[in-house]
Amino acid sequence: MPPRKKKSNNAKNEIVEEEGVLEGTMSENSTSVPNVATNNEASTGSIDDLPGIGPATAKKLRESGFGTLESLATVSIGQLVAVGNLGEATSSKIIQAARDSLNFGFVSADEILERRRNMLKITTGSASLDDLFGGGIETGAVTELYGEFRTGKTQLAHQLCVAAQLPRELGGLRVDGPIKVIYIDTEGTFRPERILNMTKRWEGDLDVKQVLKNIMHGRAYNSDHQMVLAEKAAQDSQTEPIGLVIVDSLIAHFRAEYIGRGTLATRQQKLNQHIHTLLKMAEVGNMAVILTNQVHSKPDMFFGDPTLPVGGHIVAHASQTRVYLRKSKGERRIARIADSPLLPENETVFAITGDGIIDVN
Ligand code: GTP
Ligand code: MG
Repeated sequence: MPPRKKKSNNAKNEIVEEEGVLEGTMSENSTSVPNVATNNEASTGSIDDLPGIGPATAKKLRESGFGTLESLATVSIGQLVAVGNLGEATSSKIIQAARDSLNFGFVSADEILERRRNMLKITTGSASLDDLFGGGIETGAVTELYGEFRTGKTQLAHQLCVAAQLPRELGGLRVDGPIKVIYIDTEGTFRPERILNMTKRWEGDLDVKQVLKNIMHGRAYNSDHQMVLAEKAAQDSQTEPIGLVIVDSLIAHFRAEYIGRGTLATRQQKLNQHIHTLLKMAEVGNMAVILTNQVHSKPDMFFGDPTLPVGGHIVAHASQTRVYLRKSKGERRIARIADSPLLPENETVFAITGDGIIDVN
């Protein structure tokens, strides 16, 4: 990986591509935090210790994907009844017990700040892009990459599959054991060859043979399948060291399957459920979730800004950071922070090369 650089803090909204990048230090990735690789460590206890849960119920809960206190504390009663095959009163008691044991409720702002210090950042491969993101792609949150075709959404997603596996001091998530990545591919555009190309610059820092093995690829053939894969990812994240989940692309199937105004409500309801699964997974497991999204592509359309992401307010509310990608000259692309609770609206230029995402010289 090239030495990490930092741009000056003078936030500029307009891109001057020829502008040089100033030397500096990158934000720290190596603070002492719980290992993303072992999401279970976030729990202070086991579900077996909850009052009223015997071995048979514990087994049933595990089989239904509720193996941790966090998963029980954050499920709705209706969901536990449906998925866990338990009665309403029992489900309610179990959820309450899990919440009590985790001290769920209000927390003070300084505690939130402390939690945010546990957040990790994954390098994008480009120092100026990392800088735009305030140090890299955040764990514990959903980041949405949107833009027209060939703007680099899939390429950036591939790059992050590699970068997440780097040691922390190099901008990845790894401490001891391997970090796994889940790639939900709705368009069939995942290419392991590209992953190998992108691994080259970190050959000394990555176990090249393991990089592909650590990426679990799920080809989603329709929106229901996509939703099932996300639920499977959430379940697997309770036992597997998953640090990054990618959904490329979030909306394509939903858009293709629910055509016409009459189906919009159903589509949004399903999408809402899907996004909720992803959001919860990000927050509970402190992992990074990346969604790619399309823009309204017809300038002659009657409703919608042609440069806005599709999916409406449901997607907008779930993504903590929304990034708009657009083309520039040749291999150059421009990324703009379109919506973030923390980052200023700003843009930067990066390049897509054979070796992956890099800074523009
Ligand atoms: P859609 O999925 O169609 O919406 O587009 P996208 O935003 O996902 O685009 P993607 O990330 O697939 O970017 C495609 C672009 O990446 C191509 O037009 C190339 O410019 C670049 N690219 C892809 N593969 C390579 C490669 O092997 N070498 C180089 N130099 N560039 C590549
Ligand atoms: Mg793509």
